[in-house]
Amino acid sequence: MQHRSRALRQAGRTLAFVPTMGYLHDGHLALMREGRRLADVLVASIYVNPTQFAPGEDFEAYPRDMAKDCRLAETIPVDILFTPDDRAIYADGCQTFVTPQDLAQRMCGLSRPIFFRGVATVVTKLFHIVAPHVALFGEKDFQQLTIIRRMVRDLNFAVDIVGVPTVREPDGLAMSSRNAYLKPDQRQAALSLSQSLQEARKQVANGETRADRIIAATTARIEAHPETAIDYIVIVDPDTLENVNVIDRPVRMALAVKVGTTRLIDNMPLDPNT
Ligand code: PAJ
Repeated sequence: MQHRSRALRQAGRTLAFVPTMGYLHDGHLALMREGRRLADVLVASIYVNPTQFAPGEDFEAYPRDMAKDCRLAETIPVDILFTPDDRAIYADGCQTFVTPQDLAQRMCGLSRPIFFRGVATVVTKLFHIVAPHVALFGEKDFQQLTIIRRMVRDLNFAVDIVGVPTVREPDGLAMSSRNAYLKPDQRQAALSLSQSLQEARKQVANGETRADRIIAATTARIEAHPETAIDYIVIVDPDTLENVNVIDRPVRMALAVKVGTTRLIDNMPLDPNT
């Protein structure tokens, strides 16, 4: 892969890159379509990265379907599908990690303390292997996108990061490979994430500016569903991810909720000016 991308670069071609963990859905495909538009050559990777899963998380159970992923990638089409195995990526283990600081110590970082270190490390490795001019990440994982943007700035990566809006099911549920875990009755509870974010947007449109009131209403809506356990609900500055008390500028509302044993995340912008 490294030789091929260097050769393509030398031939004057531009490269777009979409890293994924596979079990592709329309969210991943939206990133790929945007990548297709932005560069000459589109590279996507499928690699379930062990260093971003803690012991007891779903690394072994994470859904995988390489044959279907290949078919979906061809519909874009992806030019190069990079599917390394663990021996290729962590041949001799790993002694050197990229550890994001404050941005990784809030929201998902509180319940998943090694997660963003694993993500930043594998994305660094993939960037060095693929050497893309532009890389695309979904707003669905808003904290991840923010951390990658910051890492690229802090460590002088020569790559442009493009964020792509969240792709949703017709009923509003944010697409996720982990939705495959949901039993039919849990899906209704899962819908309360996007629905309560929509309600929060309405509250802001109706003039509510107090974050605590919006968070209280959201908590009640989600807790009304029996199988839910809230991990966090926050309203934050989109760059620093610090909590915002008064919504007097565009901010991000984000939440993480367990539905049964499945942990789901979602987020939306809140803008008092619209
Ligand atoms: P994965 O969960 O497979 O997601 C790959 C990319 O697809 C991420 O940038 C994610 O934000 C984006 N994505 C997922 N669901 C989306 C949706 N509904 N709408 C828009 N984009 C969506 O995120 C990872 O993998 C990994 O952490 C990775 C970055 C590959 C590092 O291992």
